[in-house]
Amino acid sequence: MRQNDQKTLAVVGLGYVGLPLALLAERKGYRVIGIDIDKKKVEMIQNKQCPFVDSDLAKDMAETRIEATSDFLKVKDADIIVICVPTPVYENHMPNLEPVEGACIEIAPFLQKKQLVILESTVNPGITENVVMPILEKGSGLKAGKDFMLAHCPERINPGDKKWTVKNIPRVVGGLDKKSLKRAVDFYRSIISAEVKPMNSLKEAEAVKVVENSFRDINIAFVNELAMSFSKLGIDIIDVIEGASTKPFAFMTHYPGCGVGGHCIPVDPYYLIEYARTNGFQHDFLSLARKINNQMPCFTVDQAIASLNTKGVNIAGAKVAVLGLAYKPEIGDQRESPAFEIVKILKEKGANVSVYDPFVPDQSAASLDEAIEGSQAVIIATAHKAFKKLTPDYFLNHKVSAVIDGRNCLPKEKFIRAGLAYRGIGR
Ligand SMILES: NC(=O)c1ccc[n+]([C@@H]2O[C@H](COP(=O)([O-])OP(=O)(O)OC[C@H]3O[C@@H](n4cnc5c(N)ncnc54)[C@H](O)[C@@H]3O)[C@@H](O)[C@H]2O)c1
Repeated sequence: MRQNDQKTLAVVGLGYVGLPLALLAERKGYRVIGIDIDKKKVEMIQNKQCPFVDSDLAKDMAETRIEATSDFLKVKDADIIVICVPTPVYENHMPNLEPVEGACIEIAPFLQKKQLVILESTVNPGITENVVMPILEKGSGLKAGKDFMLAHCPERINPGDKKWTVKNIPRVVGGLDKKSLKRAVDFYRSIISAEVKPMNSLKEAEAVKVVENSFRDINIAFVNELAMSFSKLGIDIIDVIEGASTKPFAFMTHYPGCGVGGHCIPVDPYYLIEYARTNGFQHDFLSLARKINNQMPCFTVDQAIASLNTKGVNIAGAKVAVLGLAYKPEIGDQRESPAFEIVKILKEKGANVSVYDPFVPDQSAASLDEAIEGSQAVIIATAHKAFKKLTPDYFLNHKVSAVIDGRNCLPKEKFIRAGLAYRGIGR
């Protein structure tokens, strides 16, 4: 019998975070109940299908025994309940805690004494104690710390990353009290091979995650700003970054691009900004980073307009193909993807737009050729391998005259030499 046999884990929210965790825990001997309000997703998991494009997960799914359901009554059976629901922002960038609150409201009536509840969703400091705990206590009649345990362990998974996975990414854990902390730390140590670092409080653990993602957002904003500046100065930002990267200390490489996407980097900083604002502090630096990164789709379209102009083509009435809808390579996740803003701006400028993404078949042209057909300009919005392989000849054969490399993933010199109006982001 394996170490964790007989223990039952309930994972609430079976998305990019919850599903890999559920599969890992199952492999480590836990009986796993998966709960999701999305009935279609539940049905797919019951049929051993991966609900999103991920070849590694799909393999694990084929053998899974996860008991997927939309019935929250099932949490009664669990020793540990892990909440992995989304934490998006509203259109005005204010944190949207409805999924977290909704999940807690549904869990609460079935909460049992001695259970451990862990929030994995990314939240600003204070949410586990001030939002999750009162909902669970009110709906269950139980007391946190006395009857049930409560912890926060922010997930750091990077979907599509083959090296760093849920199995080997170190974790930080905060607990409501010593017992909660110990049980949560023990749980993660029983399933992952990496360090599990106990933090001093729930708030500290919550802060770790928003700081990590804010750090990345700020660094990307810096290189994006340099890209916009250097495009006017005639300096290739990529060459400069590669030069600076030879310094073995005190420089960390980040690259500019046509925008920041995904459920984390363009979202999580707003949680910190808003939390600090309500506590009397204005995060100017972080707010500016968000503003700069949000400008990148517009800058990208400006590059397309300028490139087309050099070929005597006006954007109004031109056909532009946008390649890539996913926010990053080799996955189909489109959340907050800058590609959508690029498409919107192009349409506002009067362009006819086609889109293609092999990972998002339902929303795009049937093939690359179909998307490119008749296009005067192409914008690469995602550095999928299939796009990185494209040659100048391919575009020339399709009568494309301008290529905007929104991910700086094509060999610039070759494209320019071939007579295409090539522009990257800052090069
Ligand atoms: N995607 C990432 O790369 C990533 C990485 C680290 C952390 N996170 C964080 O993890 C959390 C989850 O993100 P995700 O990417 O897995 O989201 P996701 O949208 O892929 O999955 C969330 C799942 O929760 C379900 N759900 C929503 N409300 C629910 C409710 N009330 N009860 C039960 N199920 C509910 C949804 O149907 C969905 O299947 C977020 O807080 C996110 O910021 C995400």
